[in-house]
Amino acid sequence: MKKIEETGHFLASKMKNKPQIGIILGSGLGGLVQHLDVEEEIPYHTIPHFPVSTVKGHLGALIFGKMNGVDVIVCNGRFHFYEGYTMQEVTFPIQVMKQLGINKLIVSNAAGGMNPTFKVGDIMLIRDHINLFPTNPLLGPNDDTVGPRFLDMSEAYSKKMLKIAFECAKKLDIHVQNGVYVGVTGPCFETPAEYRMFAIMGGDAVGMSTVPETIVARHRGIEVFGLSVITDLGIVGQVEKVSHEEVLQAANVAGPKMVQLVYEMLPKL
Ligand code: HPA
Repeated sequence: MKKIEETGHFLASKMKNKPQIGIILGSGLGGLVQHLDVEEEIPYHTIPHFPVSTVKGHLGALIFGKMNGVDVIVCNGRFHFYEGYTMQEVTFPIQVMKQLGINKLIVSNAAGGMNPTFKVGDIMLIRDHINLFPTNPLLGPNDDTVGPRFLDMSEAYSKKMLKIAFECAKKLDIHVQNGVYVGVTGPCFETPAEYRMFAIMGGDAVGMSTVPETIVARHRGIEVFGLSVITDLGIVGQVEKVSHEEVLQAANVAGPKMVQLVYEMLPKL
């Protein structure tokens, strides 16, 4: 908590407005930054206690700015559990954004699609998740002043924000899927048998992020909206080789649609 407060103080001194919305940009979705009126860009490595990103394609800066007239805090680059960070490090940006006053979070990610109606390049609005990480950021002593010991997860992803997303997608004529995101550690992609198991379990897409961030956001009373770009398919009988480059490429192709959707949603949230 002390570290979170120190980082919060450092960043608050650079903040002009009071953003209520935080955005975490996942794989290849940095395009959102081009539609942002940047007020202040602070590289992660200059922020006290902030972890530093190691993955190709993740730049690593916290940005204060305005998008479609709305003040936002953007985390350009996230910390994955597979990089070796602890759950506390992975979710540190959420804690800090909460300290700065956000009450809504938008998270994006790249994911492999298991639902047979999905295609590469589709956008999936996250309706719910299945947590298959072997640990949980809320393990350990709980500070009851911050959030509850036993966290209700009956509405991990805000129904209200989802509804707004569907309405905006319709208005913009952007085709969106919706489904259940399965969160795994990676860094291996799945075997055909694993994709099949996740589909049988009720998953529509699988990825290596988002779930820890959503858990901590909910613990701190933040409403969450998540969206995945389907970058490859793990559909029975159609599993093909997948590489990080292909994932980034597919995410970049679908990126502009996703950015347009978030842009449209912001003033309505
Ligand atoms: N599996 C897990 N994570 C991913 C995938 C996948 O197929 N695609 C993009 N991120």
